[in-house]
Amino acid sequence: MAAHHVYEATCTAPVNIAVVKYWGKRSTSLILPTNSSLSVTLSQDHLRSLTTARCMVDGQGTDRLWLNGEEEEIKAGGRTARCLEEMRAMRQEVEAKNASLPKLSSYPVHIASENNFPTAAGLASSASGLSALIATLSTLYDLPSNGVSTSSLSRIARQGSGSACRSMFGGYVAWEMGAREDGSDSVAVEVAPKEHWPDMHALILVVSDAKKGTPSTAGMQRTVATSALLQHRIEHVVPARMERMSAAIQARDFDAFAKETMADSNQFHAVCLDTEPPIFYMNDVSRAIIQLVTELNRVSLEKEGRLVAAYTYDAGPNAVLYVQEKDVKSVLEVVLRYFPQSTTSFPDPFQTQADPSTALPEGFNARVIPVHSEGSVSRIIHTQVGDGPRVLGQEESLLGEDGMPKQLKR
Ligand SMILES: *[C@@H]1O[C@H](CO)[C@@H](O)[C@H](O)[C@H]1NC(C)=O
Ligand SMILES: *[C@@H]1O[C@H](CO)[C@@H](O)[C@H](O)[C@H]1NC(C)=O
Repeated sequence: MAAHHVYEATCTAPVNIAVVKYWGKRSTSLILPTNSSLSVTLSQDHLRSLTTARCMVDGQGTDRLWLNGEEEEIKAGGRTARCLEEMRAMRQEVEAKNASLPKLSSYPVHIASENNFPTAAGLASSASGLSALIATLSTLYDLPSNGVSTSSLSRIARQGSGSACRSMFGGYVAWEMGAREDGSDSVAVEVAPKEHWPDMHALILVVSDAKKGTPSTAGMQRTVATSALLQHRIEHVVPARMERMSAAIQARDFDAFAKETMADSNQFHAVCLDTEPPIFYMNDVSRAIIQLVTELNRVSLEKEGRLVAAYTYDAGPNAVLYVQEKDVKSVLEVVLRYFPQSTTSFPDPFQTQADPSTALPEGFNARVIPVHSEGSVSRIIHTQVGDGPRVLGQEESLLGEDGMPKQLKR
């Protein structure tokens, strides 16, 4: 075994959906945000990126990367190259302190990665992908047991894809903007673990699987350059909202959480509209979902004095609804009535058994939006708050014995 030890690691990492949005960089090269942001990590049982990395100990070759079975060039100076460089430097430090450790930092690596959801569908695939890359390399290089903290790993994930740093933790996560120019204090921190508020569920209403129009990287810098509303947002809105959101999570106060979440999503899309030229991520179906949730909340507020759902939209038309477990069934019944699904488009892993023919809540305005045709919401993903990156066993490896992907496209 010692003669031909295989140095390999396989990890998964989760998707996170921000409730205080990240939009705008103060440094594009280091990916430093104009403000802090906050997200909820979703369960890897349903959405995840899976990555295997192996040191090619016999290889004279170079680093290679396969995404969903297709080889991608690792561009010099690109985000993957930069992450690899930083991770190797950390490994080198560990090796320098202990001469008996294998010199893993000197070998080229093969990396294979897969998402179990469509890339660029407005679900933050780059966040889970980059987070899986960092988690896998840190496991390969044995960094956590050599004193490297998750927050310092999140600093590297951040340089790969800003919001990836938040996928390094489970539960409720803040990305602190930091103050230093080198970005060393712009890291993710846990606000609360998932166990703190485990009955938080998420319903992802997939509005369109098509590739999105404006890539978020280009869009956000146009906003920074042209939107006066963004300046108002970062100076006067986000700092106080971060405080209120953290407090709402600490207190498990769903009403406050929902109020802030919806207001922040609305303002994020308002700054997009305030950009020159304007950026649109939501479409008519996205807006109809907002109207539906607003009506549900109005009725519930009147009857029970509380909110039942919070919508939020990222840089795409998909809606994410945060709902507490006790309300999932009744919210789903209304959603399914207006956006019909089949068992293929909505294979509810929780078997909620929501019946769309259930009578609407008393006082609910049935004509708030029209009943949409099947396919308007192409599918619904039901998930919940989840944990941080997971280390898997070798049987889950994406690489074969020869270090090449087991499944290659074409
Ligand atoms: C957000 O950015 C503004 C402007 O740079 C700054 O004044 C504020 O302190 C920041 N705060 C947080 C919490 O993000
Ligand atoms: C150095 O690494 C070896 C091999 O992993 C380990 O057994 C040993 O405890 C380490 N020594 C120190 C001082 O950490």
